[in-house]
Amino acid sequence: MSNKADKLKLLKFVKDFLLASRLLQLLQPFNRVFGFIYNFNLLTSWVHKHKSEKLLTNDFYRPVRNYDDRLKSFDAIAAHYKLNEIPVSYLEFGVASGGSFKWWMNTCRNPESRFYGFDTFEGLPESWGVFTKGDMSAAIPEINDNRGMFIKGIFQDTLNDFLQEYGSSLKGKQKLIHMDADLFSATLFALSQLYPYLEKGDIIMFDEFNVYGHEFMAFRYFTECFYVNLKLISAQNNFYHAAFEVV
Ligand SMILES: C[S@@+](CC[C@H](N)C(=O)[O-])C[C@H]1O[C@@H](n2cnc3c(N)ncnc32)[C@H](O)[C@@H]1O
Repeated sequence: MSNKADKLKLLKFVKDFLLASRLLQLLQPFNRVFGFIYNFNLLTSWVHKHKSEKLLTNDFYRPVRNYDDRLKSFDAIAAHYKLNEIPVSYLEFGVASGGSFKWWMNTCRNPESRFYGFDTFEGLPESWGVFTKGDMSAAIPEINDNRGMFIKGIFQDTLNDFLQEYGSSLKGKQKLIHMDADLFSATLFALSQLYPYLEKGDIIMFDEFNVYGHEFMAFRYFTECFYVNLKLISAQNNFYHAAFEVV
């Protein structure tokens, strides 16, 4: 019997034994700890691979974070890609009261630019860290600019219909995708649906990138499962915010 066949036989035996005996269930109380160690180490390795890259912004390592410093990254991206001049399609996943949505709308001044904001506007659909379901609910923001629109509901219900209607208009235009839904589920779902519309040069920003079990995990699964190559272009607040270009 070949070496490979022997290995397979052994693997099958061990797996079936573990399934039947439930031996590893003895370690179940430690699942969270093991999960944390495994996933946090993946994040740590990723950060240390990229920490010294010359980017549009990169403040690693800083001892104290300042959330508002994400604007430094926004500013640098807008200037580098001339987003205030060219027509852009801005898609924001997680709008809440519209802080970042309005910032981008005020910055990207081209009359052909379009802004799409997706949110339940009833808060998080599931808990996220110390936040519980329903936290972050906000009224649909008031905007005085007919280039923008909001799509209310969970992405899982709204995004496909939106893409059926507007997907073709996204092609060939600079896309700026802002993932700010915090959750693994929401982030991975949105990225997966957007995959057929992604083009070289599109920008994807993550607002909570270094949260190991949420946006970072969604980023990993997305890039690994869809074979998408994303080039890091900006990092702020120790990679809490990170932006990428599709290459
Ligand atoms: C951190 S807030 C967005 C903040 C906003 N971008 C800003 O910077 O001002 C996250 C938002 O994501 C929304 N969200 C999370 N998962 C969602 C989902 N599956 N569908 C729709 N909205 C979702 C929540 O309702 C919440 O308002």
